[in-house]
Formats: sequence, structure tokens, C-alpha cells
Amino acid sequence: MKPLPSNNKKNSFSFFIISLCFIFLLVILYGEDFSCILSQPFLKLQEPAAEESGGHQLPLLAEEKDVHLPFVVERSENSCNLFDGRWVYDAASRPWYQEEDCPYIQPQLTCQARGRPDKGYQHWRWQPRGCDLPSFNATFMLEKLRGKRVLFVGDSLNRGQFVSLVCLLHGALPESAKSMKTNGSLTIFTAKDYNATIEFYWAPFLVESNSDDAIVHRVKDRIVRAGAINKHGRHWRGTDIMVFNTYLWWMTGQKMRILRGSFDGDVKNITEMVTEDAYRMALRRMMRWVERNMDPSKTRVFFATMSPCHERSVEWGGHPGGNCYGETAPIDDLSYWGSCSSKSIMGLLGREFGRTKSPVTVLNITQLSNYRKDAHTSIYKKQWNKLTPEQLANPTSYADCVHWCLPGLQDTWNELLYAKLFFP
Ligand SMILES: *[C@@H]1O[C@H](CO)[C@@H](O)[C@H](O)[C@H]1NC(C)=O
Ligand SMILES: *[C@@H]1O[C@H](CO)[C@@H](O)[C@H](O)[C@H]1NC(C)=O
Ligand SMILES: *[C@@H]1O[C@H](CO)[C@@H](O)[C@H](O)[C@H]1NC(C)=O
Ligand SMILES: *[C@@H]1O[C@H](CO)[C@@H](O)[C@H](O)[C@H]1NC(C)=O
Ligand SMILES: *[C@@H]1O[C@H](CO)[C@@H](O)[C@H](O)[C@H]1NC(C)=O
Repeated sequence: MKPLPSNNKKNSFSFFIISLCFIFLLVILYGEDFSCILSQPFLKLQEPAAEESGGHQLPLLAEEKDVHLPFVVERSENSCNLFDGRWVYDAASRPWYQEEDCPYIQPQLTCQARGRPDKGYQHWRWQPRGCDLPSFNATFMLEKLRGKRVLFVGDSLNRGQFVSLVCLLHGALPESAKSMKTNGSLTIFTAKDYNATIEFYWAPFLVESNSDDAIVHRVKDRIVRAGAINKHGRHWRGTDIMVFNTYLWWMTGQKMRILRGSFDGDVKNITEMVTEDAYRMALRRMMRWVERNMDPSKTRVFFATMSPCHERSVEWGGHPGGNCYGETAPIDDLSYWGSCSSKSIMGLLGREFGRTKSPVTVLNITQLSNYRKDAHTSIYKKQWNKLTPEQLANPTSYADCVHWCLPGLQDTWNELLYAKLFFP
């Protein structure tokens, strides 16, 4: 009787090692796109039990009390939670633009051009439960942005939202009156006649890290300086509207490696920190930067909550072994919440931004995006490496269930930004 458990232990241990090696290989092959796969089982272990309950009351955000918010045109009469609602199929009014009409979409997000056979994912409209979203008007927005600088700061998902906003606006501009330029971490779209820019700055952790190179950032062993932001922050000064995000890159499944001191020194003092503590530290550093550099009477700051992924179809009642590949409709279970979105990090965001004097407006896109298993780029994106015959035979193995096709879900994130900016 006795030897049995130890055999089992041995077997499951070698299975564990083999699985780890496999996951490690995937991560090396696919870098950021697949970091989500790793995240959940490990992350769960790190989450303190107390944070799971999440039953705390969120205090009023600054925006709900302050009548004199900049950019506000009209306040909605009833206070309606725009992020609580459902998806409605509406081919007559969505999408806002055609994929081939927006030249700024990166080849990783042009799903139709990469052979996606279905288009339904472009036709869903977000319907809040208690009110309607204001209709997006590009000319109106451009006029409000006259002489202003809008800056998105974060990772590839935030870059997707940036590109979506550019696509939503550019149709209202003549060809000669717009340009898009990239210099290092900063990409700038200029609407010349409006003297306005929409910009994106690559900083996947917001704070300094060894993944800050906008092109070569797929490092194996991520290290952050959780308290250091000024190297990036000096490029952000003078912005009128900021949209931050950060989440995916923290989800390595391990503790975060934290550098004390500079990346330039010879001797590096690196310590480990529970991911959530490191994340909180970075968030607080960002908030402190905002408090010191953004004037709340003239500027607005937004933070987009985590973008979910769809790596395991069993989570939404699909067949085992599947993921977002082949999905063509949203999840209609309104209580659905996938394992890629950490409830614990969400609770942390609620507490950090819930402080009454917080000047940050939360774009709570996690729940509504959780329903959109159909909206990912899946296999319909530019592949940087040649796929092997084994991969080609099994599309699920290389489907990207993290990023989103454009036009698509991220246009809704910008509709919500538009609503919160002008008609809160
Ligand atoms: C969009 O906004 C512009 C500028 O404010 C306005 O002239 C136009 O009528 C609006 N269009 C719609 C369809 O509301
Ligand atoms: C353009 O906007 C910037 C602020 O972003 C301002 O400093 C500058 O004076 C503006 N130029 C013109 C011609 O309006
Ligand atoms: C690129 O940005 C750097 C500073 O970040 C600046 O010194 C340089 O002039 C810029 N180059 C161009 C072509 O704008
Ligand atoms: C490394 O940093 C930690 C935290 O700041 C500090 O406690 C420790 O003494 C440092 N170690 C060295 C060798 O400098
Ligand atoms: C975002 O919305 C979810 C429900 O959809 C809620 O549980 C969470 O507390 C909200 N988070 C924040 C930071 O407002």
C-alpha cells in the first residue's frame, strides 16, 4: 500500500517538469503574446485569501463629485455604470470604419487581410444596462482636442486602443492633414489642421524595466525598477489627456524581479517581490507622477483595467483543448469571468483608485471584454516566424488569444473613453 503514493508523486512531479519545459518553450517562442497562458495557476498561489472576497464598497471617484472636470460638455442625468451591460449584434451601425480604410493598423491586427473568414466580431455594439452610450462623433472629438496632446502609455494592448482611436478619427481628416511617425518608444499621430496629436508611448510596466525597448523587448527574464518612472515620465509632460494601462507583462507566473538602483551599474541588486506588491508599487509610482505633473483643473487621466485573454475554452463550456480559435460569437453568460483576469488585481485597482482624491478615471473594460472570445486576432495576424507543419496542422497551438482585431472590441473601449471624457 505504501509505495503507491510516492510513485504517484514521482509521476506527477515528472509531469510537472515536462509541462514546465513545454510552457517555457512556448514562452520563448511567443514572448508576450502567450504570457497569459502561464499566469493563472501560479498567480492564484500568490493571491492573499483576504483579497478574494472583494466585497468592499468603492468610494466615489473624483469625477463623480467634481462638477468642473475639464473636457466635460454635458453630464449625464442619471448616474449609470457604462461598464455594466451586454453586447448587441448591430450590423447597421458597426463597425465605425472598414479595416482597409485605416492604413495605421499594424499587420498583427488586420484580421481580414490575414484571411479571417468571418466578420461578425466587427458588428457588436456595447449596450450599457441603464443608459445609452453617446454616439461617437469624430469631428466633434477633433474640435475638442484642438491644440491638445493625447497620450496612451502602456503595452501592446494599449497600443491597440491608440490605433483604434486614430482609425476612429482619421476619416474626418483630409489625406494631406495627418501624419504618423515613430521615434523610439514614442509614436505620434498628428492632425495638422487641429494642431492636435494622439500619441503612444511604449512602457509595458509603466515604470522602468528591461523590456522598455519598443522593438526588442521580448526578454526572457523580466526585471522592473518598480519605483522608477522619471526616465519615461519626462516624455509625458505637457499632455492634456493620458490613458495608462499595465497588466499583461506582470503575469509571468513567478515573483517579480525588482532592481534596486540603476540598470546601468555593474553590480545589480535584484530582489524578488510578490507580483501583486510589485504591481501596487508601480501603480503608486504612476499616481505620484500624475499628482506631481498633471493639473487636474486642465487635464484628464484614465487607466484601462486588464484586457482579458481566452486561452481555455472549457472555461466557457467549450470543448477541452480549445481556445479562442474558431470562436465567432461572444459569451452570453453575464456572470462569465475568465481566469486570465485576476480578481485580486482588480480589487487592488479598486482600492488604489477608489481613494477620494484620485484624479484618475477608470476605464473598466475587463468584464465587457471577457465576453468577447470571438474578438481576438487568433491565427489571423502577421506571423513573424515561419510556422512549422505541426503548428499548421493544429491552429489552436498558435492562435493569439490576447490581442484584438481592428475594427473590433477596442473601438468600444474608445467609445467608453469618449463617453467618460465628454459626457460623464
Ligand atoms: C458631429 O459634430 C460636429 C461638430 O460638433 C457637428 O457639426 C455634427 O453635426 C455632428 N454630427 C452628428 C451626426 O451629430
Ligand atoms: C499648438 O498646440 C500647442 C500645444 O499642444 C501650443 O503650444 C501651440 O501654440 C499651438 N500652435 C498653434 C499654431 O495653435
Ligand atoms: C527622437 O527622440 C529623441 C529624444 O527622445 C530626439 O533627441 C530626436 O531628435 C528624435 N528624432 C527625431 C527624428 O525626431
Ligand atoms: C539590496 O536592496 C535591498 C532593498 O533595498 C536592501 O535591503 C539590501 O541591503 C540591498 N543589498 C545590497 C547588497 O546592496
Ligand atoms: C470593474 O467592474 C467589475 C465588474 O464588472 C467590478 O467587480 C470591479 O470592482 C470594477 N473595478 C473597478 C476598478 O472599478
